[in-house]
Amino acid sequence: MNETHQLAVRVENVVKSFTGGDSRVFALKGASLEARFGEILMIVGPSGCGKTTLLSVICGTLKFEEGNITVFDKDLGKMRSGEITRFRRENIGFIFQQFNLIPTLTAVENVSIPLILQGKSTAEAERRSRTILEQVGLSDKFKSFPHQLSGGQQQRVAISRALVHEPRLIICDEPTAALDSVSGHKTLELLKASALKPDRCVIIVTHDSRIYEFADRIVQMDDGHVVGHFKDHTQINHA
Ligand SMILES: Nc1ncnc2c1ncn2[C@@H]1O[C@H](COP(=O)(O)OP(=O)(O)O)[C@@H](O)[C@H]1O
Ligand SMILES: [Mg+2]
Repeated sequence: MNETHQLAVRVENVVKSFTGGDSRVFALKGASLEARFGEILMIVGPSGCGKTTLLSVICGTLKFEEGNITVFDKDLGKMRSGEITRFRRENIGFIFQQFNLIPTLTAVENVSIPLILQGKSTAEAERRSRTILEQVGLSDKFKSFPHQLSGGQQQRVAISRALVHEPRLIICDEPTAALDSVSGHKTLELLKASALKPDRCVIIVTHDSRIYEFADRIVQMDDGHVVGHFKDHTQINHA
């Protein structure tokens, strides 16, 4: 494989602003980064520096104004929005800080959502959901609703939902922020074991220095820019 094929995501000089009333906020001011296959890339930086915006432009839920983004071999700037939506459903899994489970659906039904969106039958979706929930140790919680689960268990359901359709890119926004440190650690161990394969890439935005040790590489953001690249957490203990 040559250099470009090892890249899962390439972000080059991306600019994104938000307009509200007569003011304009630049959330990304020329941000660049690369994420490789087979790695956990962490993005760290202070609140408001543009981390969530960067994840949103990478997964195509927000449009950007300048620069280039390539995810696998796709140039997002050249895709129509319907095409991006289909690409995202096939290729990207998401994990959020607040888990974002649907309160009226059981664990199995929540995990089934990405497969249902892809047009799979309910029977197939639920069969695959049960398999992955077993793998994360929740075989006794198939029919539980989110409010009947602990935070750590809810995040395991969310991880299952992010991975059930075997996406190549897993995007996590502050996945451990609402968890105690033991559950946070377990979440990362599970992500590393089940999400990270040679043909996959995991990008995690986090404030949580307790999980930095799981990163293969860390990029630091500040004020809409990527300002530093680190091989491991010992270099950013001040961050
Ligand atoms: N939908 C939006 N409308 C207006 N401003 C926004 C919006 N989303 C983010 N911003 C602004 O963009 C900047 C970066 O936000 P964000 O990407 O959420 O930062 P982070 O995730 O690092 O905390 C902040 O100044 C924020 O207020
Ligand atoms: Mg954020």
